[in-house]
Amino acid sequence: MPPARVLVTGAAGRIGRATTELLLNRGIRVTALTIQDDQQIRADRVLVGDATDPAAVAEALEGVDAVVHLAAIPHRDAGKPYDVYRTNVTSTFNVLSQAGERGIRRAVIASSINAFGVPMNHHDVAPAYFPIDEEIPTDIDDWYSLSKQADELTARMVARRWGVDVAALRFPIVESAEALRRISALAELDPASRMREGWSYLDLRDAAEAVYRSLIAEWSGAIVVSLSAPDTVMARPTAELVREFAPGVTVRRQLTGREPLIDTSRARDILGFRSQHSVHDERPDA
Ligand SMILES: NC(=O)c1ccc[n+]([C@@H]2O[C@H](COP(=O)([O-])OP(=O)(O)OC[C@H]3O[C@@H](n4cnc5c(N)ncnc54)[C@H](O)[C@@H]3O)[C@@H](O)[C@H]2O)c1
Repeated sequence: MPPARVLVTGAAGRIGRATTELLLNRGIRVTALTIQDDQQIRADRVLVGDATDPAAVAEALEGVDAVVHLAAIPHRDAGKPYDVYRTNVTSTFNVLSQAGERGIRRAVIASSINAFGVPMNHHDVAPAYFPIDEEIPTDIDDWYSLSKQADELTARMVARRWGVDVAALRFPIVESAEALRRISALAELDPASRMREGWSYLDLRDAAEAVYRSLIAEWSGAIVVSLSAPDTVMARPTAELVREFAPGVTVRRQLTGREPLIDTSRARDILGFRSQHSVHDERPDA
């Protein structure tokens, strides 16, 4: 059964807008919490407030039966280290713990592919193996990645303490189809720059659908789920990319075509989610 009313934090953001729109289109009432007073947000209830503020979140949680927490500073370099870490970790604790105390039973939070630390690491590191799954060893040397790892631990605590089901979705880079075409073109010029993320990406429409599936699928506890588009951002075959740009990385299965280097079996098996949108669909070389 879909929840009747959902709180979406960070509703004015990229994933927040796409998610809010999709939930409304599926007949779910949405309370939007936004720190920017944005007149464009379409939702049943719009609250302007800070997700780290206990009073703002208490008000936003009134009458909702599930939570989608997307508010965050979404990059290491988008703020001072203290602000990035504090905003991300405090808002997640605030939203999830208050949801738990109120008896809300389902939450979805935005984790990131960066939760394993390698993509933003400033040392010369690479993933321990491909495809990247949720058990891959961490190597964290930045505050954004650390905040996402901490958020996943908060999800576990809240599930254990209050019995809230929390899905932490490990998004790769998520953008509109148009922005992804630009990202893809840039990646072709410097393939090594995206090696640590396994050349992964996800279309905004798929990100919103994954959130929806997390709200309605049958599962329980705290789960971490990796997501990816159905292919890589690159035109050439995945095996060729790995041979050329990641020769030292162990490859744990036979790679075919442009298959992604993110293991999305949990998304498929637990959430019933498969990404639909490829950046290559509308390209002449597709
Ligand atoms: N887009 C991506 O490539 C990507 C990849 C991995 C993970 N994520 C995660 O997904 C989530 C959404 O990312 P996005 O790409 O939509 O980012 P975004 O910056 O477009 O949206 C985030 C929103 O959160 C709001 N916000 C920031 N601090 C806030 C606070 N204290 N209280 C209330 N709102 C606050 C911002 O104003 C913004 O509207 C974030 O948690 C981000 O870390 C995004």
